[in-house]
Amino acid sequence: MFLAVLLALFGLLGYAVMRYYRYVARYPKGPTPLPFIGNHGELDFMQQHVGFERLSKEFDGVCTVFTPSPIVHIRDIELIKEAFIQNGDDYVGRPQNKVFELFAFTHNGGVINSIGDNWREQRRAALSIMRDFGMGKNVQETLVQSAMIDLLEHLDEMKDKTSVDLHWPIQVMVVNVINEIMFGYRHTYKDSGELLKFLFVRIFENKLIFLGISVPFLADLPFIGWRVLQFVVDNVERALDTYSTNDEPTCFAQAYKQRMITNHALDEPNLYACSADFFLAGVETTMTSLRWAMFIMAKHQTTQDRLRREIHSVVGTNRLPSLNDQTSLPFTRVCVHEVQRFANILSNNVFKETGHKIPSGTMVNADIHHVMALDPLFVDPKEFRPERYLSEDGKTLRKDLIERTIPFSIGN
Ligand code: HEM
Repeated sequence: MFLAVLLALFGLLGYAVMRYYRYVARYPKGPTPLPFIGNHGELDFMQQHVGFERLSKEFDGVCTVFTPSPIVHIRDIELIKEAFIQNGDDYVGRPQNKVFELFAFTHNGGVINSIGDNWREQRRAALSIMRDFGMGKNVQETLVQSAMIDLLEHLDEMKDKTSVDLHWPIQVMVVNVINEIMFGYRHTYKDSGELLKFLFVRIFENKLIFLGISVPFLADLPFIGWRVLQFVVDNVERALDTYSTNDEPTCFAQAYKQRMITNHALDEPNLYACSADFFLAGVETTMTSLRWAMFIMAKHQTTQDRLRREIHSVVGTNRLPSLNDQTSLPFTRVCVHEVQRFANILSNNVFKETGHKIPSGTMVNADIHHVMALDPLFVDPKEFRPERYLSEDGKTLRKDLIERTIPFSIGN
């Protein structure tokens, strides 16, 4: 009897393992996963791109890593373009998962993690509001310049300049640009302590997050299920506190509230979700890029001197640079590209979801890290060398390299 039960159990286990590998076979080839846990144990969660790179070395173009959920990595720029541009409509989804919902205020809310009609509606409304506030036009440039003036004054006022930690000043400057658009106010450097309350959890450094993606009920456990968005809630409430929808809106939150009257796709949970999306996506990325720029320029003094010389000769020292100066500042432009390539701050795309050729619901990653760090067109990719982007005339930017510099990913 005991033997029969044991044999039955082995039989069941064998069957389950066989089913598992049949399931694995539906995906593009990648490093062999262990039954059920996939490649989870082999990943480096503090440096995901390094782990993915090591695991997928032998697989050109596309490969699947099981975390334990399957994630298809597209690593070749031509294949990324084919998927996200030529077949872009097949890749507009985002994984719908309880873990991602922890960062939203409602199911399928906001812009970043939403899908389908709600994604289209929220994105259309958000872009239209941003356009009304002068996104990409002079208004926003003035806003950035004025936040820069505050930053420069703050640095000037510092008594001891022998050792200056730029982390906090840069964070305040970036938050001020985004805050002013989203919530209509900015911090002074003296009252910015309030920002300390704002907690950005470095989500993907937490191993449990990937387990939570595969085993959703884990997201309800207190050690993984947290709420990080109180700062955004406080700011939206502050912006709407005395606002009446008859008044001209002065910030994103007020404009959204006003449009809720005529557009029924817009509601309070989505207002909070969009505000959180723009705030989190805008602050952390921009701040990290600027901090990298500071580190890199401190290390590469000759490049820093050349950059300063170009800016001084074109812009002078009596005004701030503006977008109109761009064409006269080729070296400055290539420095920005090289900083973004070298710093490579979002090594993974925000995961997309597809129903095309690979099974529906699969997470798909444009491997930004692989393209910017390992594409053979970037000679000596580990070196910081802005000149690589300049053509022989010393002015024109090399299109083939710009096309492979994809810090914002590509497609929809
Ligand atoms: C250097 C700075 C930034 C980097 C490197 C960056 C990178 C990215 C990447 C890789 C994506 C995913 C794109 C995709 O799925 O194809 C994304 C999406 C997004 N980013 Fe940024 N971003 C930056 C700054 C900002 C700023 C300043 C804002 C807003 C204030 C912002 C708001 C968003 C939003 C709303 C999305 C989702 C778009 C959608 O799904 O429709 N980002 N960003």
